[in-house]
Order: sequence, then C-alpha cells, then structure tokens
Amino acid sequence: MRENYNDIATALNIEKIRNDFPLLKTTVYGKQLVYLDNAATTQKPTAVLDALDNYYKTYNSNVHRGVHALSQQATEAYEEARKKVARFINAKYSHEVIFTRGTTESINLVASSFGKKFLHKGDSILISAMEHHSNIVPWQMICEEKDASLKVIAMDNKGILQMDDFEQKLTDDVKLVAVTYVSNTLGTVNPVRDIIKQAHAKNIPVLLDVAQAIQHMPLDVQELDVDFIAFSGHKIYGPTGIGVLYGKEEWLNKLPPYQGGGDMIKTVTFEKTVYNDLPYKFEAGTPDMSGAIGLGAAVDYVESIGRKNIELAEGELLAYALDALAAIPDLRFIGESPERSGAISFLIGDLHPFDTGEILDKQGIAVRTGHHCTQPVVDFFRIPGTVRASFAFYNTKAEIDALVKGLEKARLMLG
Ligand code: ALA
Repeated sequence: MRENYNDIATALNIEKIRNDFPLLKTTVYGKQLVYLDNAATTQKPTAVLDALDNYYKTYNSNVHRGVHALSQQATEAYEEARKKVARFINAKYSHEVIFTRGTTESINLVASSFGKKFLHKGDSILISAMEHHSNIVPWQMICEEKDASLKVIAMDNKGILQMDDFEQKLTDDVKLVAVTYVSNTLGTVNPVRDIIKQAHAKNIPVLLDVAQAIQHMPLDVQELDVDFIAFSGHKIYGPTGIGVLYGKEEWLNKLPPYQGGGDMIKTVTFEKTVYNDLPYKFEAGTPDMSGAIGLGAAVDYVESIGRKNIELAEGELLAYALDALAAIPDLRFIGESPERSGAISFLIGDLHPFDTGEILDKQGIAVRTGHHCTQPVVDFFRIPGTVRASFAFYNTKAEIDALVKGLEKARLMLG
C-alpha cells in the first residue's frame, strides 16, 4: 500500500500540486497546517482564486439582463461555467444543470417542488440511515405538509446499507428514493447503481446526494441513469455559496418552480406569469455569477489533474491512513465498509472527540469532531460523535504520520 501511494504521489507530483493551494502553506499556532477537514470544505487552487479575482476586477456585471459589453461577457462566462459542469458530470443537456447555493438548497428545491406536485397523503420518501441532515429535514418538512411519511433504509454496525431492507421498503407508496452516494461521516460508498436499477424497475425516481462523491471519483449521470444529483462547489475546490442540482430534463420540466422572481419568468402581468424555460425556471433572482465562474475553474482544475488519478491517489492514501490508525491502541473505527472514500471516523478509548480534536488543533492538525450533521448516525452507534479525518488528493503520507503522532499525544495526555 505504502509503496503504491508513493508511486502515484510521485507520478502526480503531489508536492508540486500542493503549490497550487496557497492556504496549505499556512501555519497554525506556529505549526505547519495539516488540513484533514476536506469533507467539510476543500482548499482552493490559485486557478479558482484567479478566476474570481479576474471576474470582479475586469467584467463584474449582471447576467441575462444587459445589452452592454460587460453584461454580455459575464453572461457568456456564466453560461460557459454551466456547460463545463454539464460536461463534467456528462449531462445530456447543459440546461439540466441548475446553479443553486449548494447541496442543501438543491435538495430543498427537489423536496419542495417534487413534493408539491407528486407527494400525496399516504405516500412516502425512502432515504437511508446514514443521510446528512440536509437529506433528511427537507423531506421531513414536505412529508409533514403532505401527510406523507419518511422511510429509512437500515444499516449494519459496520455502516453498510442493508439492501434486503431497501428491497422490502421499496413498495408502491414510495414516490422517490433519496440517498447519499458517499457517507460524510462513515466514508461508506453506497451501491447506488443497484439502488437506481431497483427503484427504476418500479418507476421510482432517485436523487443522489453526491456532495462527498463528486470530488473523489469519476461520475457520469447518464451512465448512472440517475434522476437528480446534488452537490456543492466548495467541496470540489470551488467557491462557497455555489452548488448544483442536476435533473433529467423530463423531470425538471415536470416540476413547478421553487422560487419566484426575476429571470425565472417569460412574461409577468398582475393576472398571470409565464415561467421561463430550463434552466432559468429554477434560478430566480441574480445568481451567484462569480461562484459559478469559480466552480467552472475548479472543474477545469480537477480535470487537469484527472479524476481517475485523484481516485487512485486518494484510495492509496486512505489505505495508508487506515493501516496507520489501526495500529493506535484503543482506536476504533466508526464505519468499516470495505467500499469507502473520503473520510475516516474513529474514537480512541473513552476520549471525547472534542478533546481529541482540540489537542490535534494545537498541533496544527485540522479534523472535524462531533456529529457531522448526521445525528441519527451517532445515535445509532450510541456515541457522542466522532473524530473525522477527511482527505483530498493534496494530502500526503507525512500528514497522516503527523495525525498518528498527534493522536498518540492526545492518548497520553487524556488517557
Ligand atoms: N457536510 C459537511 C461535513 O460533512 C459540512 O463536514
């Protein structure tokens, strides 16, 4: 494992790639930063920072509204960003890409619009036991409004979805299946192809929360045949405040608008409004132009590294981390699926995750601690939370060694 990682890291020249991310050079409490909180947000390459800077310095202007040169330039760049994202996920049409504020807004959009039109008393939405709050609460809200119910696919104590439970719960009352591709807390990669196939066999659409998948592996919406995906720009090296909802054209055309306002209309009178075509029907108000342009630059950057390369490098890094962490006495993993990506959660003996996190922080090591916006997951494991180290391709074996050393120190100090 360790040699494989070295090979890939050397081939990719990770040390050189790290120079693309100015923040990785930062020190914290006088110590070199070891940034292992990439599932919460990733650092930004200069290419993204430059795209934002260039937008604001040279052509900041509102889109779809002006005949003047700057507005046209901004509109072109904004729409080019949409095309880049569409190519990145292999959408059939770029108008299937809706810019939102992030994963949370994308899921709220589908829950609200789909729910309004297609959810009725007695119906249900099927989610999984390892969802982030953003793929639970919007569905609970619309289910409450519509007198529908939320059903939950069970997982086992390794954090693996129980597919027999899924099959049992995939009954005719289910109007949509909404599951995460990769768990932000457990790191589990779910068998989404199988889930989609089985749901489609019953004509039930599927929404995938890919917020923790899209930055780690190639993802092709046509190959998956998925109906909706949701993700955030800031987790894939792009800016905060921008995200994507992909929906198949036929579904997006069927859904009512989410919000009303400028840009989402064709004509407005006091008597009646005619809504705009896709994608604008779902983009009311001035959009996040700089965010979309920054996300376009992020997607270009990721493609320049190569998604397969990223998957390989991170896979080896994860294996190295799992090996190294397993050697720490009293450490137990929370989430032990063999199919995993991105994040590793663990606890050491009785140490509270917050205390462990604080000791790591003082050594310049950034990890996330707590419930990671998945309270049902920590309730399931009957724990107060976890310590979570989450990885990006720019992380190194030396950083994992620093984490292990930091944890040894925490164990000695707190134990
Ligand atoms: N959902 C993000 C995380 O898992 C914020 O940290």
